[in-house]
Amino acid sequence: MRILSIETSCDDTGITIFEAKGGIQNASFKILANNLSSQVDIHNKYGGVYPMLAKREHIKNLPILLEKTLKESGQKPGSIDLICVTSGPGLEPALWTGITFAQELSKKWGVPVQPVNHMEGHMLSIFGKNKGSFKVAKLKGPVLSLLVSGGHTELVLTEKWLDYEIIGETLDDAVGEAFDKVARMLGFPYPGGPYISKLAEEARKKSSPDTFIQSLGPSLRSATPSQKHTGVDLGFTFPRPMLKTKDFNFSFSGLKTSVLYFLQKNKGVDPAQIALEFENAAIDCLTYKTAKAIERYKVKTLVVAGGVAANSHLRREMKKVTGKKVKLLFPTMELTRDNSIMIGIAGYLNYIKNKKKTPKPESIKATGKLRL
Ligand code: KG4
Ligand code: ZN
Repeated sequence: MRILSIETSCDDTGITIFEAKGGIQNASFKILANNLSSQVDIHNKYGGVYPMLAKREHIKNLPILLEKTLKESGQKPGSIDLICVTSGPGLEPALWTGITFAQELSKKWGVPVQPVNHMEGHMLSIFGKNKGSFKVAKLKGPVLSLLVSGGHTELVLTEKWLDYEIIGETLDDAVGEAFDKVARMLGFPYPGGPYISKLAEEARKKSSPDTFIQSLGPSLRSATPSQKHTGVDLGFTFPRPMLKTKDFNFSFSGLKTSVLYFLQKNKGVDPAQIALEFENAAIDCLTYKTAKAIERYKVKTLVVAGGVAANSHLRREMKKVTGKKVKLLFPTMELTRDNSIMIGIAGYLNYIKNKKKTPKPESIKATGKLRL
C-alpha cells in the first residue's frame, strides 16, 4: 500500500511517500519521495522555537512540500491508501497544522488517517533509511529504549512488541533542552546541542586522558561522580543529578543552573572546557541509569534515538555499557532529528497492529503531552 506521512510536531515540516508491505515483524518500506523543511533559520535568532511562528511556517510549507513530494514520487493523489500524521507529543499549534492538513486530504482523497506518537516514531527510526528500501527487523527482547530529544528524556521498556512501559523519565528539563540552554549561555544559536557537542569533542581530544580511570568502565566511573570520570582534570566539576537514586529518573535543571552560576562567578574560563564538563555530566547521568536498567530488566536490545542520539560522546558511552551482550541500535545520523520517515514507519506498524482500523479523521486531536 502507498502511505503519505506528515510530521509537524516542532520546527521541521516533513512529508514522505512510501510503498509499504508485510506484517508487524517483517514490514518493508520503499521510499518513493521524502522532503524535510527546517525552520531553524527562523527560530535561531530567538534562542528557541516559537509555537506561533512554527505554526505559520508549517501552514506555508505543507502544500509546497506535498506538491513536491507527489511530483518526485511519480504518484497521483488518488494512489495514496493511508495518511499517517503526528498527533503528539509536541507543540500543539504546530501539531494541529499537520492534523488539519491530513484531515483535509483525507476528505478530498477518501483515505483513512492513522495518528502517530512522535516518540514511538523516534524509537522506530532505527529501522529507517533516508532513501531507498528498508525492513523492520525482529528485535530480541526485552528491548530498552533511551529516547533523548529537545522535549523528552525517557527510558522505555518493551517486553511485547509495540507495547511500552516508561520506567524512567526526566522530572524537569529534557537533556536536549539542557544542551540548548547551556549553548545559549555560551552564545551559540538555537539549537545548540551540536555546537556543545563539537566544542566538547575538540576539548576532549586535546586533554590527556587518565588511563586508569578510563579503564574502570562507565558504570564504575559514574558511580563516583567527579571530573575524574573522564580523566580530564579541569579544576571544576558540575553535578550529576539523581545519579544515586534507586529509580530510573533523570533531572537536568540543576545541572543547567550550576553551569549558569559557574559562568557568573568565573569569568574567562575557556567555553570548550565548560562544554566538555557539561557534556560529561549530562551523558554520565544517561549512561549510569541506562546501565542500571539494562541490568535490572535483563535487557537484550538497547535502542538510543531522538535528536541527542547524534551526540558522539553518548554513542561511545552507550557502546561501553552494552558491550557484547546487549545489541545496540541507533538511527542513522539523518534520522536522529525530527522527520516524517519515522512517522510513516510507526504509522504503518500501528495500522497493521490495529487490524487496519483507524479513528474517524475528524476525531484526531493534537495532544501536546501525549505519552507512550
Ligand atoms: O528529536 P529532535 O530533533 O526534536 C525534538 O523532538 O525535540 O531533538 C532536538 C534536540 C535539540 O535539543 C538539539 O540541541 C539536540 O537534539 N541535539 C544534540 C545534538 N544534535 C542535536 N544534542 C547533543 N549533541 C548533539 N550532537
Ligand atoms: Zn523529536
